[in-house]
Amino acid sequence: MKRNLLLLTLAVSTVGGIATWLNAQQAPDPEAPRYTAQNRMYKPVNYREWVWVSSGFDMSYRAGTPQGNETSTFDNVFASPKAYRAFMNTGHWPDKTVLVLEARYAVGRRSINQSGHFQGDVMAIEVHVKDLDRFKGGGWAFFNFENKDETGTLFPQTAACYSCHEQNGAVDTTFVQFYPTLFEVAQRKATLKPDYEANR
Ligand code: HEC
Repeated sequence: MKRNLLLLTLAVSTVGGIATWLNAQQAPDPEAPRYTAQNRMYKPVNYREWVWVSSGFDMSYRAGTPQGNETSTFDNVFASPKAYRAFMNTGHWPDKTVLVLEARYAVGRRSINQSGHFQGDVMAIEVHVKDLDRFKGGGWAFFNFENKDETGTLFPQTAACYSCHEQNGAVDTTFVQFYPTLFEVAQRKATLKPDYEANR
């Protein structure tokens, strides 16, 4: 009787183990980049629950940055959590890193706010992704997500995104010099590009 019970327990736990294993094989990594057959990228749905690395306010490197009386903007940068943790440990971005830049209109007077600005509606969403299996060179590519589209368009290698990021990004092709907690790690781990200069 005892032996039967033991066998039954063994059988049940084996089936359970196989089911867990199968599940792990099938469940896609929710942080990994995914693409359509037409080479478009699926928008990372939960990026707002990822790690926020910093915000820029009215940074003027972007073409078409509003001037004078026009609307000001905030930039929020989010990193996929696994990539963020890897960066904190090594100072390098791992394969399958996804970085989301979310630009939002700056809003002034509303509710009780009398001066200064807070973040309003989304203006643009752009993604910088490292995928060695997919993109040539260092494996990085840029995508643009229009409005509320579920998928985004790949910027061609000739777009200004690639040259500016390549020339001026402090770590690899990313602007870690503007993300204070990451910058500190890159300095400590000595992973800043040798030609990185704080002031130009
Ligand atoms: C003239 C330089 C320049 C150009 C051109 C440029 N960027 Fe950037 N990009 C920056 C800077 C500076 C930051 C840091 C932003 C911040 O701190 O908010 C940045 C940050 C980003 C980030 C956040 C992740 C990272 O790599 O640091 C994404 C995504 C991004 N840019 C996408 C794009 C796309 C897409 C294009 C082309 C349409 C583009 N950029 C063109 C300078 C540039």
